[in-house]
Amino acid sequence: MTRYIGKPLSRVDGLDKVTGKAKYAGEFNVPGLAYGYVVSSAIAKGKINRIDTRDALSLDGVLQVFTHENRPKLAWFDLNYKDQDAPPGSPFRPLQDEKIKYSGQPVALVVAENFELARYAASLVKVDYTIEPHETDLEANRDEARKPKLGVASLLKPPPPKPRGHFEEAFAESAGQVMEEYVHAIEHHNPMEMFATTVVYERKGKLTIYDKTQGAPNSQLYVSQVFDMPFSDVRVLSPYVGGGFGSGLRPQYQLFLAVLAARELKRSVRVTLTRQQMFTFGHRPATIQTVGLGGSLDGTMNAIRHDAVAETSQFEDYTEIVVNWAGMLYSAENVKLSYELVPLDVYTPLDMRAPGGVTGVSALECAVDELAYKIGMDPLELRLKNYTDRDMNEDLPYSSKELRECFRQGAERFGWSKRNPEPRSMRTNHTLIGWGMAVGIWDATQGPARAEAVLMVNGKLRVSSATADIGTGTYTVMTQIAADTLGIPVEDVLFKLGDSDLPLAPIQGGSWTVATVGSAVKVACEDLGKKLFKLAKKMPNSPFAKKSLDEVEFMNKSIRLKNDPTTSVSLLAVVDSNGGRAVRETSTSLPNMLEQRKYARNTHSAVFVEVQVDEELGTIQVTRAVSAIAGGRIMNPKTARSQIIGGMVWGISKALEEESVMDHTFGRFMNHNLAEYHVAVNADIHDLDVIFVEEHDTIVNPLGAKGLGEIGIVGMPAAIANAVFHATGKRIRELPITLDKLL
Ligand code: MOS
Repeated sequence: MTRYIGKPLSRVDGLDKVTGKAKYAGEFNVPGLAYGYVVSSAIAKGKINRIDTRDALSLDGVLQVFTHENRPKLAWFDLNYKDQDAPPGSPFRPLQDEKIKYSGQPVALVVAENFELARYAASLVKVDYTIEPHETDLEANRDEARKPKLGVASLLKPPPPKPRGHFEEAFAESAGQVMEEYVHAIEHHNPMEMFATTVVYERKGKLTIYDKTQGAPNSQLYVSQVFDMPFSDVRVLSPYVGGGFGSGLRPQYQLFLAVLAARELKRSVRVTLTRQQMFTFGHRPATIQTVGLGGSLDGTMNAIRHDAVAETSQFEDYTEIVVNWAGMLYSAENVKLSYELVPLDVYTPLDMRAPGGVTGVSALECAVDELAYKIGMDPLELRLKNYTDRDMNEDLPYSSKELRECFRQGAERFGWSKRNPEPRSMRTNHTLIGWGMAVGIWDATQGPARAEAVLMVNGKLRVSSATADIGTGTYTVMTQIAADTLGIPVEDVLFKLGDSDLPLAPIQGGSWTVATVGSAVKVACEDLGKKLFKLAKKMPNSPFAKKSLDEVEFMNKSIRLKNDPTTSVSLLAVVDSNGGRAVRETSTSLPNMLEQRKYARNTHSAVFVEVQVDEELGTIQVTRAVSAIAGGRIMNPKTARSQIIGGMVWGISKALEEESVMDHTFGRFMNHNLAEYHVAVNADIHDLDVIFVEEHDTIVNPLGAKGLGEIGIVGMPAAIANAVFHATGKRIRELPITLDKLL
């Protein structure tokens, strides 16, 4: 009985967003607001000898300059407190002491009566440093690579499995061999909304905090621990987020600085970072990967090796799953995987859309294409030849895996069978045309979450959970789930999120929100339904007096008999019978681990791409792409398609444009703005097509939805790189594929 789930529904928050009614963290205005501006370190490593703040403080309207010298003593500086997404290690503490750990590190916060004054005053702060030698170059330091430290985060990001079979022997005996190195550049999240926090200083020092975050409860936890405040004194709100992509999974330093200033000055403070400062915390790490594939001439892949070396900071071991996918995707019997880190004088890397997945699968899927050419086999045929219905790492069946059908439908839509495999064979004048393909894979995870459902006196349903909507469509999909569960039109359902006062939900990431929070919303609405039915049974002359719950259904704002829909009681009448009081229920949903652990749970994609390369200029356009996605049940084809299109656009961006260029002389990112850090824009995007191959999966969660936030990007870069090879005959194993590498 679904009226909304599975149907396209425009974003319920769309109107608020396009009319400017939706407010973001840096837009909440309160009387007496002061403004902070961050001073960033000009060196990558060393220490501060002296900070001269006199000129800044002498300006009328400058309230204070906070530095490590005058910051209050906080318990946190001695504790090893962890946020929800903290990797093993010791988190960065802004203004802790005189030490500089990376370029761009915040060294002072200037607070003034207005933003412009704060910014000007910040330019007057003089910092005298002692510079120490830094190491920021992954390639130059790759010999320092070591195994990552394990921690709680390793539960979600397990290290590579033990080797199976004997890679070396199998590889040596293979007729077709590939052993290549793939290098990926650093990337920075560049959501439209800058990181910002507005702290409203309330009576008795209570704080209401508007923060840019992918999890209001995570920021609440952070502030209450760091500043030793009771939870009840810290409320964090984040009703709208202008893009996150992982950058808001951890509390960022502007939150710390804004709270510190507000508490010290006893007034409301806002700190907004600049676009340049968006390059001073977290990034997708640079990686160097080696992929070895051995195959026989009939296309049987016997040997797979995948090694990755990535960078991390000196203080935390950020890890992601880069190489494990190679052991899952193909049925090879001899597999050897390794993953190591090199600590550098940079900030700790941070999850960025499909962290590790898009990195590792990009290298692997380029190598598979190379093997296809070595043994003279169609790349799609090679993948089908080595298809597996089991996760070979864990030796588990998949809860569902319709990748084969993705291949079929994607290839057909794209016209793959018309491809001439010969490189440079498809051209018109100076334009080389190339077709490439690749596979994508990502996790389908469910976590614990809570939600509240309230039938209000006006008959409307209010449902809430402290999750986030970083643009993914959470408001909309949760509204659909609630509406269907209790038979109420979406117009009469209000879903609230982004508020630490609401029932607890995890950070929004890992593509798990629909599975996790959606399940909680479903349970809360079902439990509320039970309560409403009990009340309806007790009403005078109730038609349900002798009926049980499974004999009724919720439809058209009523409870009615399944076998006699004319016998019904309206939900408004039930509220009336409750003494005119709202009826509420709060519920928790937990994943069914006992059942889920018997299966591998993943989303898959098959991606087909056409590129056109100008032979003389080396410019590349992705003129056509088809993504066929197996992502479980599709809750809302419209928002789902948006998610996948977004991932495909970013795939183009990653493959061809995005690169944070570090000048290792200074240990500093040089292209820290959108003029020089290129992201895909409208002119880069042509024909993008999405196919959903539905899977009926009762294992992943009660909704059967697998999550679509990340799978859209995973297969794209490899498909593009493979298409570039087909067009030009050149293998570019270094992302992004900029024209200088092609000429
Ligand atoms: Mo995503 S990188 O899990 O926000």
